[in-house]
Amino acid sequence: MADADRRYTSTVVVDGSDLSRHSGRWLTISWRPYMGDPQMKTMQLAGRSDIVAIGQGTWHMGERASERRREVAALREGIALGMNLIDTAEMYGDGGAEEVVGEAIAGLREQILLVSKVYPHHASRKAMPQACEQSLRRLGTDRIDLYLLHWQGQYPLAETIEAFERLRDAGKIRHWGVSNFDVNAMQELQGSACACNQVLYNLEQRGIDFDLLPWCRHEAIPVMAYCPVGQGMDLLHHAGLAAMAERHGASPAQIALAWLLSREVLAIPKAVSPGHLRENAAAASLDLSAEDLQELDQLFPAPRRKQPLAIV
Ligand SMILES: NC(=O)c1ccc[n+]([C@@H]2O[C@H](COP(=O)([O-])OP(=O)(O)OC[C@H]3O[C@@H](n4cnc5c(N)ncnc54)[C@H](OP(=O)(O)O)[C@@H]3O)[C@@H](O)[C@H]2O)c1
Repeated sequence: MADADRRYTSTVVVDGSDLSRHSGRWLTISWRPYMGDPQMKTMQLAGRSDIVAIGQGTWHMGERASERRREVAALREGIALGMNLIDTAEMYGDGGAEEVVGEAIAGLREQILLVSKVYPHHASRKAMPQACEQSLRRLGTDRIDLYLLHWQGQYPLAETIEAFERLRDAGKIRHWGVSNFDVNAMQELQGSACACNQVLYNLEQRGIDFDLLPWCRHEAIPVMAYCPVGQGMDLLHHAGLAAMAERHGASPAQIALAWLLSREVLAIPKAVSPGHLRENAAAASLDLSAEDLQELDQLFPAPRRKQPLAIV
């Protein structure tokens, strides 16, 4: 299953229309071996097809000078383990996380798919170019591969898209996308070049399974899951998840990540601890059986009705 192209065939209803009856627009993601590890699952994102489906988050990095060396080392170790997508934001550590990322990717820039996010209050024609320049300076690079609107704010989306596209035309960013957008906001982007929606999604918080994930699949817009291991809290202590992990000789976090990949969603766990990093990278090679997935559906049922989009 891991190496095969897969198509969605379930019945999906959004706003009363049955998306499964539409033809020819199912999102198909190829899962191919990554050069470093023949088993690592990769997906297509932002014009690249070699993106290991588990990337690296950076929230809370760059907040304390005393942690900086450890954080840089963690990101570099993660890259060495094959995790070639790094997610950051101008917000994290008030620019500090972008500086940590800049130090970590020095000399390795070409390998990395670099994702950063612009504050909603900078998402205007006037403010975005300067915000982007500052991010580029902190990141020590001349372009951001995927630049996301962190959440929807006061500026009309049309203006934000225009600002993104000007930056793209100027070569400052390669692709743009959004974060924390529910279906109604995504519908406003229909037909645009939006390359990704980054949202909170994990076994415990499956709200998007009801409508947003099917909608994005139908529109072939990749979904990137933040808080994929539930911020290292309750999810990882769930007895049923722990039992499945033990059967696989894996950790609960690895099962949680492998489940996201089985949904063809890219995960961006943040890890500074070397043990966590190794576990997370190895989860990109972990296959769950149909029985495992069924059991996870029983342990963590998908929603039966619309849920408000979860955010942190
Ligand atoms: N777009 C948005 O609005 C938004 C919001 C939140 C987050 N994000 C992005 O998504 C990334 C991930 O979300 P997150 O950082 O909130 O949560 P997360 O990745 O679910 O959890 C991070 C926490 O889990 C621990 N951890 C990581 N791997 C583990 C493992 N294998 N076993 C046990 N614990 C593990 C980490 O510890 P150590 O660090 O000690 O290893 C850290 O404390 C962020 O870093 C950020 O880049 C985006």
